[in-house]
Amino acid sequence: MKIEVWQGDITTLAVDAIVNAANESLLGGGGVDGAIHRAAGPGLLQSCEQLPQLRPGVRCPTGEVVATDAHELPARFVLHTVGPVWHDGQRDESALLANCYWKSLQLAEKLGARSIAFPAISCGVYGYPLYRAAEIAATETLAWQRSHREPRRIILVAYNTATFKAYQQALSAAGQTLDDESEAPRSSDRAIAAQSLMPAF
Ligand code: APR
Repeated sequence: MKIEVWQGDITTLAVDAIVNAANESLLGGGGVDGAIHRAAGPGLLQSCEQLPQLRPGVRCPTGEVVATDAHELPARFVLHTVGPVWHDGQRDESALLANCYWKSLQLAEKLGARSIAFPAISCGVYGYPLYRAAEIAATETLAWQRSHREPRRIILVAYNTATFKAYQQALSAAGQTLDDESEAPRSSDRAIAAQSLMPAF
C-alpha cells in the first residue's frame, strides 16, 4: 500500500475514519472543522459537548486526539485532533503536529478502522507553513504504514492544488515513488474518486 493523495472535500469520503482539524474546545469552528460539523449534523456537536473537559474550555489538548461517531457523515468515526498554531517553529510545533498524525493513527488502529483520511492539519487558520506540514504528514504516515498493518488505507486530503502538490513532493522526498500516487483527479474523476471511496473499508 502507498499513502494516497486525494483532492476534494474530506466530508464526502466513505472511509472508516476522517480526521478533523479542531480546536481544544471541540465545539466547532470554521475551515474543515466547520465543514465536518455541517455535514455531520447537530449530533456531532452534541457528542463533543458530552466529552469531559480536562480543564475549562479544553476537551482535547493540542497534539492529542479524541474520537466520536460520525453521525450523518459517510465515515464511521471522526477523530478530532488539535494541531499547533504556528508561531516561529521554536515552540514544539513540529513535534505537536507529528503527534496529531501518529496519535490519530494509533486511535484509528484501536478502533479497528481500516481506512483513514487526514486534512492538512494546521495549514489553514493555524498558519503552519504548507511544505513543512506536508513533510511531517508524509514522514509520520509512511513510518506508520511501514510498521503497522492497520489502518491499511491512509489518505492525505488536499483542499487545493498547492496542498496536493506539496503532499506529492513530500511523499516523494520521504521515499514514496511518485508513480504510485493518484493523479490529480479531474472534476469528473473527483466524483468517481469519491464514489470509489464510498464503500466503507
Ligand atoms: N475538506 C478537506 N480539507 C479542507 C476542507 C474540507 N472540506 N475545508 C478546509 N480544508 C483544509 C484547508 O484548506 C486547510 O488546508 O483544511 C486545512 C486545515 O485548515 P483549517 O480548517 O483552517 O484548520 P487549522 O489550520 O488546523 O486551524 C484549526 O480553525 O476551523 C478552526 O475550529 C478550528 O480553531 C480551529 C482552527
